[in-house]
Amino acid sequence: MSTQPDLSRVVPRPEDIPPDMRLASPVEQDHWLIDGRLETWTGGRSDVPSAVCLSGDGDPAPMRLGSFPRLGERESLAALDAAVRAYDSGRGPWPTLPVEERIRHIEEFVARMAEKRDEVVRLLVWEIGKSLADSRKEFDRTVEYVRDTIDALKDLDRVSSRFVIEDGIAAQIRRGPLGVVLCMGPYNYPLNETFTTLIPALIMGNTVVFKPPRLGVLLFAPLLEAFRDSFPAGVLNIVYGEGKEIVPPLLRSGRVDVLAFIGSSHVADSLKKDHPRPHRLRSVLGLDAKNPAIILPDADLDLTVKECVLGALSFNGQRCTALKILFVHRRIAETFLQKLGAAIGDLPAGAPWDDGVRLTPLPEPGKTAYLTELVEEARRKGARVMNEGGGTVRGTYFHPAVVYPVGPDMRLYHEEQFGPVIPVVPFDDLEEPIRFMVESNYGQQVSLFGRDARELARLIDPLVNQVCRVNLNSQCQRGPDTFPFTGRKDSAEGTLSVSDALRVFSIRTLVAAKQGALNVAILNDIVRERRSNFLSTDFIF
Ligand code: G3H
Repeated sequence: MSTQPDLSRVVPRPEDIPPDMRLASPVEQDHWLIDGRLETWTGGRSDVPSAVCLSGDGDPAPMRLGSFPRLGERESLAALDAAVRAYDSGRGPWPTLPVEERIRHIEEFVARMAEKRDEVVRLLVWEIGKSLADSRKEFDRTVEYVRDTIDALKDLDRVSSRFVIEDGIAAQIRRGPLGVVLCMGPYNYPLNETFTTLIPALIMGNTVVFKPPRLGVLLFAPLLEAFRDSFPAGVLNIVYGEGKEIVPPLLRSGRVDVLAFIGSSHVADSLKKDHPRPHRLRSVLGLDAKNPAIILPDADLDLTVKECVLGALSFNGQRCTALKILFVHRRIAETFLQKLGAAIGDLPAGAPWDDGVRLTPLPEPGKTAYLTELVEEARRKGARVMNEGGGTVRGTYFHPAVVYPVGPDMRLYHEEQFGPVIPVVPFDDLEEPIRFMVESNYGQQVSLFGRDARELARLIDPLVNQVCRVNLNSQCQRGPDTFPFTGRKDSAEGTLSVSDALRVFSIRTLVAAKQGALNVAILNDIVRERRSNFLSTDFIF
């Protein structure tokens, strides 16, 4: 039997904030990056509240962290102009630079970025409520991702640094940039997921307009100077403001060549429709998901509960890869629910800087009300909250709720809750969870829990064609970052991983010549005299 959760630390008192987590003053971020300059903005601004509520005289309230510029359409289009100029239809210095030199710019940036770890992490914690340990992990994982990207590009370049000869034609085949990329990441991994598109886009020779996510904005402020100094003018431009005011005009201009967006499919669809020449727009999208777990009657329940807790509640369920619905065989449902409730009862809840904290406040305005609505609707239709304190709200904190039995008539069965509510669906026949997956609009991943290899194999073959990763006795997740990360249906477009990202932000292009004395002499001259950056056999060590 689980006991009432201890929620005494989820709304800290101002005096409980550890000294190294305090902000000396609010961060009034008043610059934006355009054409190699940090422009000062004197127009309208948007305030940034903290994810964490503090207790005080009145009701718990979020602390004001600072503000950022609310640019308009004019500034956003000016940033796009700068990126278009720097690309110069593929003739600009950046897209034609030798790969080795582009790598040097990224190396310079990542070295400067690493110096800002503490500042960025502190803002990450305050802005989105991610635990200090996970915020540090996000930062370190991102730095590592950038370094791995550099290594992957070196490998790719080494393979391309030789001629191929086929049917009497000599060719050098490389990957070239695509043009101007609009990069937008999500609030749950504002640094990491943004950089998993931004860095590959840049390193492949594209120029970029980057708009930070709606939450997790200030954490880019400590990096602005490094961004400015590490890249030639116009190669990277950073715009701030309300997405719906400054983003659609960029697409409508027809001058964005690649949309790199991680967020909702609804927003992605509308942005793609804004582009006047849709076939010219390439999209790299990480979108919605409702990854199920299917728990078979012979599953190792201790292992299953451990993975389901990680899968459903890491960062309070705010991961696109989170387990968002659990199908459990009716024969073991009661035992599973007991163990799950107990495991959740053991998770420390508190402020994100608390040692060992696993459950923290939520950053999205209105989120606790939305989750409460989902739970209440399920209750009205016959479900119950199975764990002690499930669904309790304190300020911006929502205590995880295990809701059972959930069925197709409930919103929790269909909607991506993106938060700490765990719908559990009992099943008698495996066809039921499989039908859920077939009929679902999502197709990212699934987790299967069981011991019988033959039974699991029977499931694997049809399910790999429903989703893009089947996890065995393991939670759903993106990493390791060298694995392909993608999805079917409304879940993704394009594949990301350290090496795949280099491919999606580039296109194969080649120089070919029929072999003959003249062409051989020309090729030899160009290579020997190092007359071209593309046509070159230089090897990056
Ligand atoms: O929000 C989606 C993230 O890509 C999830 O990454 O599974 O490594 O936490 P993760």
